[in-house]
Amino acid sequence: MANPWFDSWAKLAKEKGYPARSVFKLKEINERFKVLKRGDKVLDLGTSPGSWAKYACEVVGETGFVVGIDLTPPKFSGRLYRFIQKNVFEVEKEDLISQDIPYFDVILSDLAPKTTGIRDMDHLESVRLAERALQLCEMVLRKGGNAVVKVFEGPEFPRLRKEFEKRFKDVKLFRPKAVRKESREVYVVALNFKG
Ligand SMILES: C[S@@+](CC[C@H](N)C(=O)[O-])C[C@H]1O[C@@H](n2cnc3c(N)ncnc32)[C@H](O)[C@@H]1O
Repeated sequence: MANPWFDSWAKLAKEKGYPARSVFKLKEINERFKVLKRGDKVLDLGTSPGSWAKYACEVVGETGFVVGIDLTPPKFSGRLYRFIQKNVFEVEKEDLISQDIPYFDVILSDLAPKTTGIRDMDHLESVRLAERALQLCEMVLRKGGNAVVKVFEGPEFPRLRKEFEKRFKDVKLFRPKAVRKESREVYVVALNFKG
């Protein structure tokens, strides 16, 4: 039987060698907001199957690198990519920071809960993940750094947005074209971390 999620974005991702269609969301965000640049050290939360990580490695090039965290292993590997299999709630500063990596320039979070179909519950769980991404920004993002964080919209969203606005100089909301019509996901694009 045909997979109903296998749409034109998924087909294009496959043709271009990315493990998932989500790559086009990050690509559009980056082309619009210039979140990533050559040489950046990037932390990618909810990294599997690895589309964002592959794209980020291409953008940062040989002088940068990407560290990815997920509960499950990615389908992507590369010289510029290190994977840590861990729950983001259990990750500690020492897991991420070393003499070689004193900070990150960019934190990406495409973390998504296992959806239950109960809108409010999925929303709250996604806000909890987005708040964890913000905590990790406070732990390891350099002053002036950027973050992109996915969240499912709902009643807690305005409060979450304010939390980002307290910590970043410029906060935008963006819904890339590759987000499915029925999805309530949006991306918080948070630029220039206040430190
Ligand atoms: C939408 S997928 C990410 C897709 C990825 N950005 C890509 O382009 O390939 C969301 C990921 O979040 C991960 N995730 C959800 N909760 C997590 C947690 N508490 N700790 C670590 N990873 C988690 C899931 O395992 C899943 O792989």
